[in-house]
Amino acid sequence: SPIPIPNLKSCGKATKEGSIEVDYSCCPPTPAEWNNIPYYKFPPMSKLRRRPRAQQVTEEYIAKYQLATRRMMDLNEKDPRSFKQQANIHCAYCNGAYKFGDDVLQVHFNWLFFPFHRWYLYFYERILGKLIDDPTFALPYWNWDHPDGMRLPPMFDRRNTSLYDPRRNPHVRNGTIIDFRFGGDEEVSTDVEQTVTNNLTSVYRAMITNAACPLQFFGARYLLGTNNTDDAGTIEKMPHTPIHVWTGTVRGTALEDGRTSFGEDMGNFYSAGLDPVFYSHHANVDRMWNIWKGLGGKKRDIKEEDWLNSEFFFYDENQKPYRVRVGDCLDTRKMGYDYAPADIPWINCRP
Ligand code: C2O
Repeated sequence: SPIPIPNLKSCGKATKEGSIEVDYSCCPPTPAEWNNIPYYKFPPMSKLRRRPRAQQVTEEYIAKYQLATRRMMDLNEKDPRSFKQQANIHCAYCNGAYKFGDDVLQVHFNWLFFPFHRWYLYFYERILGKLIDDPTFALPYWNWDHPDGMRLPPMFDRRNTSLYDPRRNPHVRNGTIIDFRFGGDEEVSTDVEQTVTNNLTSVYRAMITNAACPLQFFGARYLLGTNNTDDAGTIEKMPHTPIHVWTGTVRGTALEDGRTSFGEDMGNFYSAGLDPVFYSHHANVDRMWNIWKGLGGKKRDIKEEDWLNSEFFFYDENQKPYRVRVGDCLDTRKMGYDYAPADIPWINCRP
């Protein structure tokens, strides 16, 4: 049967590396009616939120986004909308805080990956919009599938702003090209042309060659009573994960407080949401889902009830707790947003 919302009362310790405990609680505030969480209904919408390309926004937009993020960081840490609580959602769902019996709930490496992150960004975006009183505010997407976007978007590289995170690998600064094959400790390539070609080819593989059928794209089935299958979808494997690892601090080096790095922030599930660029990275992952469905053939959403009826728990922009279904997030326009169009040059990069 499908994965239900976790038991919110039994949220426990998260671990960052299988057995090392995260030294704070990643659990959300327990709602009063924790046993009776209502289903979410889409609020009436006036205008579509249109997510812009991160490397193509105006200074005015950047100022708005910085302000909204700053306000989120300034909320009381116990407020479920606060930046820390928002980052903790990822920690709770991915680092073992929730269990069904002995099985750990995990939204990576399986078919919950795309829908979980879609709902997660949906509420994150609405909270930001609410904090600046702009119901059309839309997150920027890190357009890494385009040569212009294969580097950290500049707005995230401005020191002392709310979008900057000092816990990144120094190699992400100043427009360095990302290599989608990055595994953790190699020297980064400086051959821009070759790296762009390799990257475009790997996106082609992840979107087309290796993702002809739904379970290849979304990841393996994951049902209640089974352990996570560790069979991630093509985009999740690459470039999604290498971009996380490329952005986070090198494992084994010292963090600013002297502790050993586990890839913080972006390179570890428990801390990934503490880097504001996480939400732009995942906006592009989410956009890949829309593009993939548009490619035709068997590239369609999964039709199995066990997927459609899987559920997650989130707080909305008014601090109200809700349960949401996978089946209700298949159409982003119905959810109230879409993506500013961009060229998809990888479409011509068949290996
Ligand atoms: Cu939930 Cu990009 O990982």
